[in-house]
Amino acid sequence: MNMACGTSPLRIGVVGYGHLGQFLVEQLLSEGPGLGLKLEFVWNRNADKLRGVVSDEFILRDLSSFAERQCDVIVEVCHPQIVKEFGVQFLSKSHLMVGSPSALSDPELNRTLRQAAQRHGRTLYVPSGALWGGQDIQRLSDSGALKALFIRMSKHPSCFRLTKDVLSDWSEGEGRRVLFRGSVAELCPLAPNNVNTMAAAAVAAGALGFSGVQGEIVSDTELSDYHVVEVEVTGPDGFSVRTVRRNPAKLGAVTGSATYKSFWNSLLVCKGHGGRVFLC
Ligand SMILES: NC(=O)c1ccc[n+]([C@@H]2O[C@H](COP(=O)([O-])OP(=O)(O)OC[C@H]3O[C@@H](n4cnc5c(N)ncnc54)[C@H](O)[C@@H]3O)[C@@H](O)[C@H]2O)c1
Repeated sequence: MNMACGTSPLRIGVVGYGHLGQFLVEQLLSEGPGLGLKLEFVWNRNADKLRGVVSDEFILRDLSSFAERQCDVIVEVCHPQIVKEFGVQFLSKSHLMVGSPSALSDPELNRTLRQAAQRHGRTLYVPSGALWGGQDIQRLSDSGALKALFIRMSKHPSCFRLTKDVLSDWSEGEGRRVLFRGSVAELCPLAPNNVNTMAAAAVAAGALGFSGVQGEIVSDTELSDYHVVEVEVTGPDGFSVRTVRRNPAKLGAVTGSATYKSFWNSLLVCKGHGGRVFLC
């Protein structure tokens, strides 16, 4: 396995060419060589979007032939469905950074991906995204001291992509509205593109899992410039931590701007951590 030691760069495949995919490809081409990273391929379900923008040599036309381009790390930045269809195959050949960790709320998929990582000795990386303190939560969970975890994500209504019709009637100036409160397992299917940060938290809080971590999504028309992520951690004997992260974001943007850089920093960590799940 190529591990970017000496002169061999770490070869990266990017699956998805939306906002995050474009950002990562640009970074790989501009900064990658200096950091020992090499773009190996880019795939997008509509290849036309890549033509004339990305050099032909990098374009992978058929995702099922991904193994022909040997990669050390495959980065998924498109949709939970692709994690479901290809995650196990990706892990049989490469480490995998799952940009859509809400896919892991499906207990069966979660189990098969963990098994595949273990079987092939490859790492399933989960980027922290907009989560603050993920490693601290993980340490608390691993030591058996994590009692409860709650995450609230508040955004302008134009930033939500929901699978159920609970927000079609919003109007500018209406203020704050709680859309849903429940377990992260229940929230992921309702807002798969909006709660990846909560999914990363549920991975960090392995002892509680997706059904044990509680979340809330809030629509707020006042939040035209940023998303807010609040995390409340409860430990034993009155221990608690509360963080509030303001993530600058344009109106209608699913992803806050600081999250792009966070993804890039996560990718720099993906050098192989054995056959397990690793929050990066
Ligand atoms: N982990 C995090 O904190 C975090 C943060 C932001 C976004 N995300 C997730 O990362 C992924 C990419 O985000 P983005 O901001 O680049 O989104 P985007 O909408 O800009 O791009 C998504 C891309 O995937 C493609 N796509 C959509 N559905 C698809 C499907 N079923 N099969 C194949 N391709 C499909 C689209 O055509 C588009 O090119 C999304 O799943 C998003 O929810 C995660």
